[in-house]
Amino acid sequence: MKKWLIFLACLSTQLSFAQTEAPTAPPAPIPTDFVEEIWYKRALIYNLDVKVFKDSDGDGMGDFKGLIQQLDYLKDLGITVIWLSPFHPSPLEDDGYDIADFYKVDPRVGTEADFKQLVEECKKRDMRVIIDLVINHTSNQHPWYQAARKDKNSPYRSWYVWSKERPQDADEGMVFPGVQKETWTYDSLAQEYYFHRFYDFQPDLNAQNPDVEVEIRKIVKYWLDFGISGFRLDAVPFYMEIPQSGMKNPMLQFDLLYGLRQFIQWHKADAAVLGEANVDPKETDKFLGKYGEGIQMMFNFYGNQYLFSALASENIETFKKALIETRDHSPANQWAWFLRNHDEIDLGRLSNEAREEVYSKFGPKENMRLYDRGIRRRLAPMLGNRKQIDLAYSLLFALPGTPSLRYGEEIGMGDDLSLKERNSVRTPMQWNTQKNAGFSTAAKTFHPVISQGDYAYQKVNVATQEKDQKSLLNTIKKFIKIRSQCPEIGWGEWTILPATTSTVLVMQYKWKDKSIVVAHNFSKEKQNIQLRMAEWKGKSLQDLLNEKTVKPVAEGSYSLAMEGYGFQWFRLN
Ligand code: NOJ
Repeated sequence: MKKWLIFLACLSTQLSFAQTEAPTAPPAPIPTDFVEEIWYKRALIYNLDVKVFKDSDGDGMGDFKGLIQQLDYLKDLGITVIWLSPFHPSPLEDDGYDIADFYKVDPRVGTEADFKQLVEECKKRDMRVIIDLVINHTSNQHPWYQAARKDKNSPYRSWYVWSKERPQDADEGMVFPGVQKETWTYDSLAQEYYFHRFYDFQPDLNAQNPDVEVEIRKIVKYWLDFGISGFRLDAVPFYMEIPQSGMKNPMLQFDLLYGLRQFIQWHKADAAVLGEANVDPKETDKFLGKYGEGIQMMFNFYGNQYLFSALASENIETFKKALIETRDHSPANQWAWFLRNHDEIDLGRLSNEAREEVYSKFGPKENMRLYDRGIRRRLAPMLGNRKQIDLAYSLLFALPGTPSLRYGEEIGMGDDLSLKERNSVRTPMQWNTQKNAGFSTAAKTFHPVISQGDYAYQKVNVATQEKDQKSLLNTIKKFIKIRSQCPEIGWGEWTILPATTSTVLVMQYKWKDKSIVVAHNFSKEKQNIQLRMAEWKGKSLQDLLNEKTVKPVAEGSYSLAMEGYGFQWFRLN
């Protein structure tokens, strides 16, 4: 069909889009009591990949049974939501984001019964499960694609996007520049070019085909019926884009996104969608929906890159701006904040100068960088300095949104730069000092365990850190505990206080009659700041980290001596 003879021209994952109109009707106000019911506003997300978390049967690959054994560890850490990376049958060329059967559990990691048991065991512990929903593309091994390429008349042919000619711009718009060569590849069996926004083994599904939409809803219903609480929606803008010839800014079908969200909620009232969408803040409204009709949550990729810029430069000016730019959304929506995830840190939105500064500080060697825009390292080796690492995590739990942790971050795991692309940050969880870090008893593990250098499992592991009160693990547990006692951060309004300087960020949160103040010093040097607020007159500040009270002075003025990379959390009494 003509509409598929198209080309999408975009330079990286950060696209700008033409947009279909969002509803303009004003919303009914959201009652504050209702906001308290919204679980994701006060969640703590932990992302893990079953394949590398815990292997129960010694075959070298983690599995659901192994994960179930470790649930008490996660509960103890304070996690409320587990986000599972894809676990379906897959050739694993893109670590499982190349799905070959949406309705099954990869037999190497378990069975559907194991998955069901996981969800139930989580429920018993008051934890929720969300799973990756990868619907922009399939693996080229998926039977739908195999049927489509073999036969022009197959009903599956129109489930993908084809062109008879090689589109003029076929070597533009790659998400993985440097590795991926084109976005249209010739399939000799199909005798046509197929479109793939990602790698060539991931043909894009044709979202404009209503049959595809129906199938996606079946997939969603299938997994919701296991009792999960929602989805991390992969590649949201790409899923919605409408291929159009020669159009640099592809149209996005927001009605698809809103329809999907609605369908999910009809099916399970409290289910939520957390979107992977690295978009300009000006476009956020369309994704979340101006009045909350879009997806409930999005990762704050924009804020993440400015946060790294602030950590590298020890200057918070642009990060402050990014916070303000991403401030407004409906009270039912929420940002998810993260430090590291399973991909590279994408620095594509920074100025060249700022990006170079982050590169030179955190990714100085060529093999630490990826796709001309990012860094493929874990946080601990990147910062390499315990004080700054603590600052970064304190901040993660103090930012306006829901914190999301990647497995292994809580113990400061390292990376393996000898592994391909993003696999550097996907090595097995380090549980203890036993063989293969206690991850598996197999001779060979799916990804190698880190066993050399400063981040080797013999030095960095859960068991050792559990015994040490000062370990990163125990520090993060403490942050999580304090954060869980601060509903102001998930639910409340925030402001950046005037005490803020170019190195110290001071934020105040207010929720009903509660208020907290968090201060973070991005500089390695000591800083003294003055908190001065007329409304604080006569009140005292309770130091939440050190469990003491800061003496009030009559005019509501407080002097804070901030250590290099220091941070303080106060409740206003
Ligand atoms: C985004 C995922 O985060 C990434 O890991 C994956 O390679 C692409 N989507 C393709 O699914």
